[in-house]
Amino acid sequence: MNINKVLTFLFFHFIFNFLITSAQICSNSFCRRTEPTIRFPFRLENLQPSTCGYPGFDLFCDAFNQTLIELPNSGRFRVQSIDYESQNVWLNDPDHCLPRRLLQLNLSTTPFNAYFHQDFTLFNCSAFDYARYRYDPIGCMSGENYTVLASSSETAIRFLESRCSMIAAVAVPVQWRFFEPVMTSDLADDIRLTWGSPRCGQCEERRGRCGLRSVNSTEIECRNAARHGLPRMAQYAIFIGMGLPGFLLLIGFLYLICIREHNSRRGRHPVMEFSVVVVPHSTTTISGLDGSTIESYPKTVLGESCRLSKPENNTCSICLSEYMPKETLRSIPECQHCFHAECIDEWLRLNPTCPVCRNSPMSTPS
Ligand SMILES: *[C@@H]1O[C@H](CO)[C@@H](O)[C@H](O)[C@H]1NC(C)=O
Ligand SMILES: *[C@@H]1O[C@H](CO)[C@@H](O)[C@H](O)[C@H]1NC(C)=O
Ligand SMILES: *[C@@H]1O[C@H](CO)[C@@H](O)[C@H](O)[C@H]1NC(C)=O
Ligand SMILES: *[C@@H]1O[C@H](CO)[C@@H](O)[C@H](O)[C@H]1NC(C)=O
Ligand SMILES: *[C@@H]1O[C@H](CO)[C@@H](O)[C@H](O)[C@H]1NC(C)=O
Repeated sequence: MNINKVLTFLFFHFIFNFLITSAQICSNSFCRRTEPTIRFPFRLENLQPSTCGYPGFDLFCDAFNQTLIELPNSGRFRVQSIDYESQNVWLNDPDHCLPRRLLQLNLSTTPFNAYFHQDFTLFNCSAFDYARYRYDPIGCMSGENYTVLASSSETAIRFLESRCSMIAAVAVPVQWRFFEPVMTSDLADDIRLTWGSPRCGQCEERRGRCGLRSVNSTEIECRNAARHGLPRMAQYAIFIGMGLPGFLLLIGFLYLICIREHNSRRGRHPVMEFSVVVVPHSTTTISGLDGSTIESYPKTVLGESCRLSKPENNTCSICLSEYMPKETLRSIPECQHCFHAECIDEWLRLNPTCPVCRNSPMSTPS
């Protein structure tokens, strides 16, 4: 074989490969400049060919040039943002009523998963003065004569059960794990989901271009990724300059969390464990205390000395309102927990235990 033939072969080989590859190159796209940039594994249905995306990741633009995704069984969601490196996507409801959509959300047939779930119970309360009780109403689900509320706190749920009708208990995908149950939420925060496959995060990190290996396969490949990152000296410099303080901060943060966990275990908020879906108790089994027992518990008008169990705790944990001067409080003798008299009286008529600690030695009426 002479050198000319070899060169010609190499030339055509190169051209052929170039054409094959460029046929599969997919460019970034977006619905509007302010909308998220779309690239593999996502694709915009009418702007990018199907080989530019991964099954289950098809997006489209609506009439307002918003980026939407259609999740099987759960309907359309607005894509608020995408982080390709950490493989995260943030969704919300295009009609601005996410809680209503959460009632029907089912991710089992999608490529997406939630990081954390927190169970919330939604209530429909008629003639409920939520402002007095400091609950956040879900505005888009409430009407003129009723208010819809959501909570993950067992105490709040039991309080609402006595006044409102339960709509549903739903597992809400939340961005962060809450260390204490949420008393009240309008559930309007974007939901943050992740995907396990295809794994393009590392390719993205190395500034590569992730894509399907060939037209009909679901195998992926990473093109043009930086083979080596920064020079070694620069890596050391970055590690010492940023990594070390970051590490120390992390240790500090973990330490704080531990302390917090430890304190809450020690019984400051024994009721406030992680959320639990509370199945409403049937009302026939509820037996609270009788009026004379309740009346025998000490009552104080604020401004005088009410011995609160924690001096810094100046909120009634039943209605969530702060105590105001001249309000009447009642404390439970066995555990010294204080509440508004009207709140605790109503509570005790339904439940014979303290709403905060519950392990109450109170005598039940004979
Ligand atoms: C959406 O984008 C198209 C093309 O970029 C533009 O012509 C149209 O005015 C946009 N519509 C809205 C509602 O912004
Ligand atoms: C979600 O959908 C799947 C399949 O359609 C079904 O089996 C599952 O029970 C659903 N999960 C919930 C919580 O509704
Ligand atoms: C709440 O209850 C009212 C009647 O009291 C009803 O008209 C309304 O549709 C209910 N709302 C929800 C979201 O269940
Ligand atoms: C709400 O209640 C008021 C007073 O009872 C009544 O006049 C009004 O029609 C009710 N509104 C709705 C939407 O049912
Ligand atoms: C991909 O699959 C389709 C249908 O399954 C088939 O018609 C097509 O020829 C395949 N293309 C390649 C390049 O294998």
